[in-house]
Formats: sequence, structure tokens, C-alpha cells
Amino acid sequence: MSTLKDIQAPVKQEMNEFELKFRQSMKSKVMLLDKIMDYIIKRKGKQMRPLFVFLTAAITGKINEATHRGAALIELLHTASLVHDDVVDNAHYRRGFFSINALWKNKIAVLVGDFLLSKGLLLSLKNDDFELLRIVSNAVQQMSEGELLQMEKARKLDITEELYYEVIRQKTASLITSCCQVGASSGGGTDEDISKMGTFGTKVGMAFQIKDDLFDYENAAIGKPTGIDIRERKMTLPVIYALKHSTSSEVSTIKKMITDSEKKAANVKKVIEFVKEKGGIDYATKRMNDFLSEALAILKTYPDSVYRNSLEQLLAFTIARKT
Ligand code: IPE
Ligand code: IPE
Ligand code: MG
Ligand code: MG
Repeated sequence: MSTLKDIQAPVKQEMNEFELKFRQSMKSKVMLLDKIMDYIIKRKGKQMRPLFVFLTAAITGKINEATHRGAALIELLHTASLVHDDVVDNAHYRRGFFSINALWKNKIAVLVGDFLLSKGLLLSLKNDDFELLRIVSNAVQQMSEGELLQMEKARKLDITEELYYEVIRQKTASLITSCCQVGASSGGGTDEDISKMGTFGTKVGMAFQIKDDLFDYENAAIGKPTGIDIRERKMTLPVIYALKHSTSSEVSTIKKMITDSEKKAANVKKVIEFVKEKGGIDYATKRMNDFLSEALAILKTYPDSVYRNSLEQLLAFTIARKT
């Protein structure tokens, strides 16, 4: 597997400029906010989304200033969504260290997320990037709807596979869709490019979230908690599949275990074992690979180039990554 550094190589200069712009756009005169922004910058993520923006712009047109603003806007929104998500999921680790809510409590984390969101919007408004705002605002709406849909269905523990796809399409794939649309749109791609890249991003995003959900079943150090989805009653593909292929008595035993897992930590391990035995991990892995192949097929409709090659590597990275 190529490393992110290798994958970034054709847009190295752009990624460096991105980091600078991203940092600058987070400044605040409020000392507490500035301190927290500093904390966030020091523990940066993989920055896969800006990479999608630049690479899709490069294969459909030419990277320019608008592409740069799009990349910064999307990473700001992504960061905001993680800060809020950790409040929602009651998660205390992120990117290998304490989450904002763990260190500063929920009240502050909610405001920090809002601040990041508004900084992103202001950055685009300052430059009259209305097309960018249109694409991205749509994703923001879907992300919050997706998280809420997930919570609504989670309580009942009876979410279907179809509904799971709907949840992850909204909460995660929508932002990656918008990365690729913003790339194509800002770089001067045709309407067909924008639409094709959007579909490409959605497929990648689906694979991306299935991979994230698979992490929860592992014991690896991924920089954030594992086993937490079950504890928080988040029904993801592996367990949905396992329950679908169980007897009704198994289903009620497992559902009860999930419900009680908040108080009984040992339940999480048992549920994970059950899901593995039923082939839930294998099934989710297979579906993830299917989404990825579909994305790859779209990519192959573009001529071979260093950028397309990097995007292909980025696809492989999406499902083989360790964090
Ligand atoms: C995490 O995204 C949130 C999900 C949609 C699963 P990333 O794994 O891209 O997070 P960072 O930015 O690299 O930490
Ligand atoms: C994705 O869901 C979160 C967002 C879309 C913000 P998760 O709750 O699974 O993401 P992680 O695992 O906390 O990063
Ligand atoms: Mg979470
Ligand atoms: Mg997760």
C-alpha cells in the first residue's frame, strides 16, 4: 500500500499551501478558542478530503484559487463535524489523544464546532464562492440528518441493511461526494464531470465508512475508541448482517446484550465474537470492496495521468488504512 505521503506527491505544493490556509482560517481573538484551535492543528488528521478535492480538480481541469478555498472549507467542516460527533457519541479519544469534549466538556465542544463551521462559511463568502457553498451546504444538511437518522433507528436496534446504507451515505459519503464535486467544479470541469465525480465520491465515501465501522470490531490502536459503536447502540453492517442470519432466539439474546452493554463492558466482547462467527466482518468487507470497485470503474473513464494514478492509490488506501 502506498503511504499518504506518496499519494500526495503530485499535489505536494498544493497540500502545503492548504495547511497554511487551513491554519490561518482558524484564528480567533478569544484566548480560549485560540488555545483549542492550536490543540486541533497540532493533532491533525489524515487530510484525505483536501486530497480528494485537489486530485479530482486536476483530473477534470486545473487546480486554482477556488480549489484551494474549497479544500480549506471542507476540512473545516469535517473538523467541526468530528468535534460535534464526539459529543454525540460520548467519545473521549480522537486522533490519538483526548477529544475536545473530554478536555473541555460538551458545552465548549458544541461552540467550538459552530465556530469552525462559521469560519468555513465566512472564508467562502469573502470570495463569493456561491457554487462552492451550494455544494457544501447540501452536504452539511445531509451529515446532520444522517447522524439523527442513525440515532432514531439505533434505539430500536432493528435497522435494515438498506437503511444502514442510507445513514452512511448521508453522514459520511455526502461530504466526500462534495469534495469531488467541488474539485471538478472549481477546476473548470463540465457538468458531466461534476456529476461523475460526485458519484465517484459517494462510492468512495460508502467504502470509507464501512472501513471505519469495521475498525470498531478490531483491537488495534486507531487513535480513537473501539467497541464504542456497540456500546452506543450504533448498528453497523457487520452486526446487521449477523442478526439477519440468526435464529429469533439468538436475535433476542444479542439485542439484550447490546442494550445492556453500557453497564456490562463484557457484553461488547461477546457481541463482537458473535458477529465474527456469523460472518458479519467478511460480509461487510465484501460490500466495502464492491463500492470501491464501482468507484474505480468511474475513475478509469478518465485518461491515465499521475493524478489518476494517485486517486487510484488513494482508493486503495481508503480500505487498507490503519487509522
Ligand atoms: C473520521 O474521518 C470520520 C468518519 C467519517 C469516519 P477521518 O478518518 O478522515 O478522520 P481524520 O480527519 O483523519 O482524523
Ligand atoms: C462518522 O461516524 C462521523 C461523522 C460523519 C462526523 P462515526 O461516529 O463512526 O465516526 P468516528 O468513528 O467517531 O470517527
Ligand atoms: Mg463517532
Ligand atoms: Mg466510527
